[in-house]
Amino acid sequence: MFTKSVIDIVAAALAFSSVAVAAPASAPQLSKSAQLQLADTATDRYSILTKDKDFVYDFTNAPFPLANRKFFPALTGTGLAIAPAVFPACSIASLHIHPRSSEIFYVVSGSVITRMIPETGARVVKNTLTANQTTIFPQGSLHMQMNTECEPAVIVAAFSSDDPGATLVIPAVFSLDDELVLDSFVGSLSKEDLDKIRTVIPRGPLFEVEECKKKCNV
Ligand SMILES: *[C@@H]1O[C@H](CO)[C@@H](O)[C@H](O)[C@H]1NC(C)=O
Repeated sequence: MFTKSVIDIVAAALAFSSVAVAAPASAPQLSKSAQLQLADTATDRYSILTKDKDFVYDFTNAPFPLANRKFFPALTGTGLAIAPAVFPACSIASLHIHPRSSEIFYVVSGSVITRMIPETGARVVKNTLTANQTTIFPQGSLHMQMNTECEPAVIVAAFSSDDPGATLVIPAVFSLDDELVLDSFVGSLSKEDLDKIRTVIPRGPLFEVEECKKKCNV
């Protein structure tokens, strides 16, 4: 009798847990990452990530150049993200912040100039990295990278969040109301200057410098 009731309880627990695990899968409106965030235990996550290939992110055929928890759901809860990138000759990764993450930045080949502004009151950290060198950009620091050479630079950036996010600083500043931008620049910009700046500032994370490209014939 005792044995049977234990078996019943175990059977019931197993049935319950399989229902609990199946529930997120039967809610197709939730993304995989959302299901993983809701999983009751880490073990339950393996019932959502059913294939070994769920643990592989192939950048060559990836929908997005950053492996974060949205595009690579297996990262959910790990506090990790990664992005390999090629900086073309004469390119600049514009000044940005990762609001939820520190970054460790490794140069595979080529050369990359970096600038990092940790916070107001701290100095600007300036470096030129060559192949096999790495630097860090602490969480919340403003930073930019430049490849001023005529050859591409290959890098890998790794993050301490599975959702590091990014804020492009210059477009952010110029997304404020005209009056606020003009007041922030204490009258040194005219409305015309502002309109012109708004039309020319790069909106994307990476842009190329035409003068350098001419010099390099690229
Ligand atoms: C990078 O440094 C490691 C450790 O010193 C060394 O083994 C490796 O050969 C270096 N790689 C390159 C591409 O220089």
